[in-house]
Amino acid sequence: MSFVVAIDGPAGSGKGTITKNVGEKLGLVYIDTGATFRCVALNMLQEKIDINEEEKIKKMLDNINIEMNENGQIFLNNEEVTNRIRQNDVNDFVSPISTIKIVRDKLLEIQRKIAQGKNVIMEGRDIGTVVFPNADVKIYLDASAEERARRRVKQNQEKGIPTSYEEVLKNIIDRDNRDSNREVAPLKKAEDAIYVDSTNMTIEEVTNKITEIIENSMSK
Ligand code: DC
Repeated sequence: MSFVVAIDGPAGSGKGTITKNVGEKLGLVYIDTGATFRCVALNMLQEKIDINEEEKIKKMLDNINIEMNENGQIFLNNEEVTNRIRQNDVNDFVSPISTIKIVRDKLLEIQRKIAQGKNVIMEGRDIGTVVFPNADVKIYLDASAEERARRRVKQNQEKGIPTSYEEVLKNIIDRDNRDSNREVAPLKKAEDAIYVDSTNMTIEEVTNKITEIIENSMSK
């Protein structure tokens, strides 16, 4: 029997960092499901497939191979794409791609397979609602749009990328609307998920809080 922790929430809520930290602390395998959507977006860019070309998308999905190893490396069709899938062309393309039903159906299968037989902490938008509705622990991690924009601007400044706060905030609000209002598997809190608002918390505080929630559930 495997143990599954589902962490859902909007872009910029800190899910990635927190999930990685908690996974390391508790010895759970960390799975980033956004990376699987990014792999599909990259494959479509590589093969120059347009969002409306359903037959081509189907064929591409029949042949796609996505793998993740324990060091957090991501492989698309046996090529390492860990950094490539974080670049701007993929950032811009991935959100519309994630609304396509056949893409979500295929990735659902892949995500469940990656987690099979392991103790995992999985982050995404629909883990507690669709991928693992029977997860042992469900967390919905949130933060205000303004705080998420501030975090993104700070991250970019640290990387030397000049960024406007207003532009980032608008981008975050647009993405929230698209992720929450799509027909298939929209971003929403599962009824039985624990809501954690990280707006006024440090990374360490959120890591400790979520670790504690999971430990309590493991000891039951
Ligand atoms: O978490 P991220 O930014 O890497 O996610 C990339 C995109 O994939 C994002 O626009 C939402 C989508 N996504 C999704 O629809 N469902 C998931 N479980 C994970 C990501």
